[in-house]
Amino acid sequence: MTHVSVTVNGVQHDAEVEPRTLLVYFLRENLGLTGTNVGCDTSSCGACTVLLDGDSVKACTLLAAQADGREVTTIEAMATDGELHPLQKAFHENHGLQCGYCTPGFIMAADSLIREASGPLTEEDIRRGLEGNLCRCTGYHNIVKSILAAQESMGANA
Ligand code: FES
Ligand code: FES
Repeated sequence: MTHVSVTVNGVQHDAEVEPRTLLVYFLRENLGLTGTNVGCDTSSCGACTVLLDGDSVKACTLLAAQADGREVTTIEAMATDGELHPLQKAFHENHGLQCGYCTPGFIMAADSLIREASGPLTEEDIRRGLEGNLCRCTGYHNIVKSILAAQESMGANA
């Protein structure tokens, strides 16, 4: 077993995990944070996207041990004080989801994309930036629309 100390959504967690434990299973099974989904076993769907020290990563591509000493943010921390995050609101208002399975991953990836952009994102920037996230239901149009709406209300780089 390996000892890991990971700060998740602002709370430090110390645990003994098997060295092969993936970060996504550490979050879901050890911490009960099941908003981070597993949608494939080929690192291709992005349903497991979280922020690691503020950057989006696929949590199925990292070992829990690789997050030792680092900060992870999951979808559970996006709403604050009972208020949805602007991205969550925008997905709701613009019908950016159907089954919702991919949505946490899209929101985490979009949050990082918006924050890291040097200016307002275009539709093409969003489509390119979220190539690593797959949705089986929506056809992407309303996801892109949601992210365009959210970036305005986030005031980022506007
Ligand atoms: S579960 Fe991680 S990319 Fe699909
Ligand atoms: S809303 Fe169903 S997979 Fe995207």
